[in-house]
Amino acid sequence: MSGGGHSSVKPKSLLAIITTLTIYLGVTINLFDIIKDHNDSGDTNYSYDLKRFNKMMARAHNTNKEYKADSIYQFKDEYFEPLLSLYRKKAKGLLDPTRKRFRSGEKPRVLLWSDPFIPNFWDAQLSHVQQDLCPLSCERNTADAIVIYLRGARSANVVYQNLSPRNPTQPWIMLTFEAPPRANSIYKTNYREFNGLFNRTMMYRYDADIRVPHGFVVKRDDAMYLPSTWVVPPILADEHMDINASEIKNITNSFTNNTSNIEKKRKLVVTFISNCQSKIRLNYIHDFQQYAPVEVYGKCGENICGHSMYVDHRYIPMEDPCLKIAGENYLFFFAFENAFCTDYITEKVYNLLYFPIVPVVFGSAKYSTLLPSGSYIDASKYTPRELARKLLYLQKHPMEYKKYLFWRYYYQPSTIGGERSLCHLCARLYDEDFYEYNVIEDFRSWFVIKSMCLEENIAF
Ligand SMILES: *[C@@H]1O[C@H](CO)[C@@H](O)[C@H](O)[C@H]1NC(C)=O
Ligand SMILES: *[C@@H]1O[C@H](CO)[C@@H](O)[C@H](O)[C@H]1NC(C)=O
Ligand SMILES: *[C@@H]1O[C@H](CO)[C@@H](O)[C@H](O)[C@H]1NC(C)=O
Ligand SMILES: *[C@@H]1O[C@H](CO)[C@@H](O)[C@H](O)[C@H]1NC(C)=O
Ligand SMILES: *[C@@H]1O[C@H](CO)[C@@H](O)[C@H](O)[C@H]1NC(C)=O
Ligand SMILES: *[C@@H]1O[C@H](CO)[C@@H](O)[C@H](O)[C@H]1NC(C)=O
Repeated sequence: MSGGGHSSVKPKSLLAIITTLTIYLGVTINLFDIIKDHNDSGDTNYSYDLKRFNKMMARAHNTNKEYKADSIYQFKDEYFEPLLSLYRKKAKGLLDPTRKRFRSGEKPRVLLWSDPFIPNFWDAQLSHVQQDLCPLSCERNTADAIVIYLRGARSANVVYQNLSPRNPTQPWIMLTFEAPPRANSIYKTNYREFNGLFNRTMMYRYDADIRVPHGFVVKRDDAMYLPSTWVVPPILADEHMDINASEIKNITNSFTNNTSNIEKKRKLVVTFISNCQSKIRLNYIHDFQQYAPVEVYGKCGENICGHSMYVDHRYIPMEDPCLKIAGENYLFFFAFENAFCTDYITEKVYNLLYFPIVPVVFGSAKYSTLLPSGSYIDASKYTPRELARKLLYLQKHPMEYKKYLFWRYYYQPSTIGGERSLCHLCARLYDEDFYEYNVIEDFRSWFVIKSMCLEENIAF
């Protein structure tokens, strides 16, 4: 429902919601406002380009605090870094897995369990494990550990029945890719039955034992260590030019010098919304529309575009007709989350990174640990009115707008999902401490309460 449609939603509690969010996100942001000064292992030396970049910024009389050269170069995806560093080591022949003996040999074995109503759930995800593309390999077999797909758990009893007798030295790992309200359609937010069932967790949250967000961002120079299907260079600008790292210098040059007519060609904001129940984002958008236009696609909007495209059962963002429309015709994309839960970020944001459009994010994730600064705008830091003013300003100042595309010359996004998640899992199974005694006694508390979802009763 854009414009007229959703204006029937009276934003009576808008102020309350924004206040709540500001307080809530304020705390989150303070905790994670540090972009860590990692000691780069020396693989990459950006200092030459950094100097250029600083000059360019000086020329542009940059005053925008969101955009700091050093934070761009220092950015490392905190969730992905552990796996990336294993790949780096592997590429250099430095990988030294602990000599731990597993149940039946040198490699850990893991059983992947899901209720049989999703019979082939694991097959596609397993391809990298089977082709030995993970940095540390493991086998799908019985079993040093068992992964239990939460969505495919009809009841705790079914799990026990299927997997008993339970071996106390074998961790049972809860896996979900979704936020609590969507993770299991039977339990929704009442997971008491799962108390004491799991020893470990595998999900997008930062405090999970194995972190598996929907995508990652990696320096172009590091991308070469990864399986080739994991990274696709993003489209760099509206001319659809493609570059590689060795061309950065030239690009930097033309970038500073090129004010293409972005502002004439493109409309301001687009968003795609299919779940019309999330009042937080609809209220924000509604209020924003008092100051600047937003075109809404999807169930809650007036516009439609094609269906998303899947190739070989894998979603290819570059082929998505909706995102192509967005990337060619709009400057900003409102990528507001459908679930405001701690650390939750959908694949939506990652999909957008392939296109020369700037995501405006709004959610409960710590975006600064997931995305380079200057690659997105965080709506929660602005009132709708301030945000409208900022976006309209950027529309009128293409050089300022283009600064939000600049990170693309140094980084690549990836939406690769299940394969990467299982590589994370295999790697973690080599850690001795993973097998230490640990029980999630109060699963609901850990999973639901700690996720602090706003609007947690929304049916998705
Ligand atoms: C990076 O390059 C600069 C300039 O070429 C040089 O001064 C600096 O020592 C290099 N740093 C590393 C870590 O190699
Ligand atoms: C990068 O592009 C340059 C110029 O087009 C080309 O010579 C070089 O081989 C490319 N490098 C890679 C790694 O693709
Ligand atoms: C960069 O630009 C120079 C001069 O135009 C050109 O000779 C060189 O091949 C370019 N390098 C790459 C990697 O495109
Ligand atoms: C910018 O463009 C002008 C003219 O088109 C050219 O003379 C100048 O060298 C360019 N500057 C850079 C940094 O590329
Ligand atoms: C500047 O951008 C235009 C299109 O917007 C492109 O055709 C042109 O090649 C670019 N110039 C440079 C020097 O990159
Ligand atoms: C896993 O949890 C079960 C049930 O609480 C417990 O009996 C078992 O010792 C735990 N195992 C590990 C490795 O933590």
